[in-house]
Amino acid sequence: MKVLLYIFGLLVFSFGTHGDSIYQFPDDFLFGTAAAAYQNEGAWNVSGKGPSIWDTFTHLHSEFVVDHSNGDVACDAYHKFKEDVQILKELGVKFYRFSIAWTRIFPTGLPHNPNADGIAFYNALLDELQKNSIIPMVTIFHWDVPQPLQNLGGFMNPKMIDYYIEYARVAFENFGDRVRYWITFNEPKQFCQEGHGEAYYAPALNMSGVADYLCGHNLLRSHAAAYHLYNDIYRPLFGGEIGITLNGLWFEPSNPQEEEAAERMRQFYLGWWAHPIFTAEGDYPPVMKEYIAKRSAQQGFRWSRLPEFTAEEVEYIKGSADFLGFNHYSTFLAANAENDDLTISFANDHQVKTFLDPSWPKGASSWLSVVPWGFRKFLKWLRDSYDNPYIVVTENGYSDLGQIHDAERVSYYGQYLEALLQAIYEDNVSVIAYAAWTLMDNFEWFDGYKSRFGLYYVDFSSPNRPRIAKDSARFYKYVIGNNTVVPYKKVN
Ligand SMILES: *[C@@H]1O[C@H](CO)[C@@H](O)[C@H](O)[C@H]1NC(C)=O
Ligand SMILES: *[C@@H]1O[C@H](CO)[C@@H](O)[C@H](O)[C@H]1NC(C)=O
Ligand SMILES: *[C@@H]1O[C@H](CO)[C@@H](O)[C@H](O)[C@H]1NC(C)=O
Ligand SMILES: *[C@@H]1O[C@H](CO)[C@@H](O)[C@H](O)[C@H]1NC(C)=O
Repeated sequence: MKVLLYIFGLLVFSFGTHGDSIYQFPDDFLFGTAAAAYQNEGAWNVSGKGPSIWDTFTHLHSEFVVDHSNGDVACDAYHKFKEDVQILKELGVKFYRFSIAWTRIFPTGLPHNPNADGIAFYNALLDELQKNSIIPMVTIFHWDVPQPLQNLGGFMNPKMIDYYIEYARVAFENFGDRVRYWITFNEPKQFCQEGHGEAYYAPALNMSGVADYLCGHNLLRSHAAAYHLYNDIYRPLFGGEIGITLNGLWFEPSNPQEEEAAERMRQFYLGWWAHPIFTAEGDYPPVMKEYIAKRSAQQGFRWSRLPEFTAEEVEYIKGSADFLGFNHYSTFLAANAENDDLTISFANDHQVKTFLDPSWPKGASSWLSVVPWGFRKFLKWLRDSYDNPYIVVTENGYSDLGQIHDAERVSYYGQYLEALLQAIYEDNVSVIAYAAWTLMDNFEWFDGYKSRFGLYYVDFSSPNRPRIAKDSARFYKYVIGNNTVVPYKKVN
């Protein structure tokens, strides 16, 4: 078998010298792919859908997107979902992660009269997946706030918790019989910190050190409320699981003296979300509370800019996840940057500088380099920091400029999947599933259609948006089919 695999590797992946791992993925391991509504659905104004902040933002500020594009049509997955399910079947995935567009269900976000066409669309998609034996993993919120709710302050308004919960309730009620895994929120760090604290993502408020913490506070309360709603009412009916997806860059100390700074950065980046949910003591990480309170006092505030949870809230949020969804792409170096700059900002709160090692191979995205050992270290850190939680890798992938013969992507996946096997077998990390980001090229936020993450190429100049398998699609298919990393050529 190994010899056959090796010969196969030589033929298909031209002189494969890596892979053919000594480890196999467990028999019940789940492979899938991940996507998000705004990035692939298109159909932004059909069948009663209302505008989200991404519709508004890209229409009013095309300069924020490198190629001035938007998601109005994207992959047109709204109309082509049956074809896409056939592609998923052909790949052999066990699950498909996608998100619901809030404004298809509640066009203004106000929680009354759900839009029947929106519910019908996701019912049709779920039925199609079921017919093809593909497990749905559904993200309730992947950044597309209804614009009218943003006009009321979005997640900075505590009333948002009620609006979000009513939306989640409609999703559980209508789709819960078929959805095995629910994800309350995707990447709160990107949404709250980089979208409210900075201006990289809608709503681009650019109020660092203030808006980000307010957003995060209400988001964590919304998450816990959705978890408890599901746990109390819908789990007994449907028996699914519910978690949250956190993203993390691994922060490696730039030299051994910098471990404390690297750990502080990990806490500000991922611990912000994970500590309240996944630790025995709950609440924000102590280092985060300490640094923000101290800096706030120096700036003349009479309270910390990081809001406080009541003791009751700490209890309510603690343990509010069945699994930890984890999105990971890349690694940065970290070093202490303690400073006296009293400008209000997230960076002046954590006081760590982060940078790339120039020797690391790069993807097409500015922030992406190929560091598979960072993935393994991060998984072990999650195990050690959060008492060995069940981990679902909800995203991992590589960006290039869209070539069909994508040897770099094959090499990235090969190395990261080998690191994952080592984390499972050598570090005892409890990873139960893995989703490649992403099935097909799609709208990559501020990178528009320039950097591509797909296993399938999409021709965005053709009205029909044809999908064409890249070499990485074939590679992933063989990995899934053989439950191991089949031979590939390491090129990065
Ligand atoms: C929907 O948006 C498209 C542009 O993407 C526009 O051409 C069309 O007229 C809009 N349809 C409606 C019903 O507003
Ligand atoms: C965000 O704020 C910073 C600092 O106030 C400013 O330099 C920058 O131009 C702003 N960016 C945007 C996109 O508004
Ligand atoms: C991994 O888990 C197994 C079984 O629970 C245990 O015997 C082993 O000591 C663990 N190894 C490490 C490195 O924690
Ligand atoms: C497993 O790998 C072999 C090559 O050795 C290949 O022929 C087979 O199609 C793969 N299995 C699946 C289900 O893809």
